[in-house]
Amino acid sequence: MNNIYCKDEEKTEKLGHLLGTLLSDGDVLCLSGDLGAGKTCLAKAVATALGVSPSDVNSPTFSLMNIYKGSKLEIKHFDLYRLNSAEELEDIGFGEYVGNNGVTLIEWGELFQEELPQEYLLVKIVKEETGRRIFLEAYGSHYKELCEKVWTLVNAGN
Ligand SMILES: Nc1ncnc2c1ncn2[C@@H]1O[C@H](COP(=O)(O)OP(=O)(O)OP(=O)(O)O)[C@@H](O)[C@H]1O
Ligand SMILES: [Mg+2]
Repeated sequence: MNNIYCKDEEKTEKLGHLLGTLLSDGDVLCLSGDLGAGKTCLAKAVATALGVSPSDVNSPTFSLMNIYKGSKLEIKHFDLYRLNSAEELEDIGFGEYVGNNGVTLIEWGELFQEELPQEYLLVKIVKEETGRRIFLEAYGSHYKELCEKVWTLVNAGN
């Protein structure tokens, strides 16, 4: 199993919440998908699972990065859509933030794939006629284990 069909926003939130409960310090998630695919929706659910108030989670399309305080971990939420170059990424200190202290969520991270860490979880959201299909692609053994945990729990009805 490497994907799940999420018929509506609630189903996507459920997956995001499950993912959030399984994350640990240093984890990096790249959220990819077209405009309006549901990246922010999923990021919000992940952050909520980590103890952030849902109303604190906003799309960092213009700010590039938001930081939220979870109950145990800090969550860094990036949106690279409006970024023009890797140099700009350096200017905002992306390299120092990613994978350091807490959990990093990156919308549109695939636009700067060379700047991503070697190991991360790619969450690919594909729009279908109604709903979304969400694929998990692991880069690195840690994320492979994470995926296995996710799918085991999903198959068990979580
Ligand atoms: N199954 C689904 N999962 C998530 N969102 C859904 C789903 N079905 C419909 N939607 C709708 O799609 C939209 C997703 O918006 P969201 O801001 O999360 O997208 P995004 O991928 O972050 O977009 P952007 O590229 O602009 O940042 C919401 O309006 C949501 O209600
Ligand atoms: Mg978004």
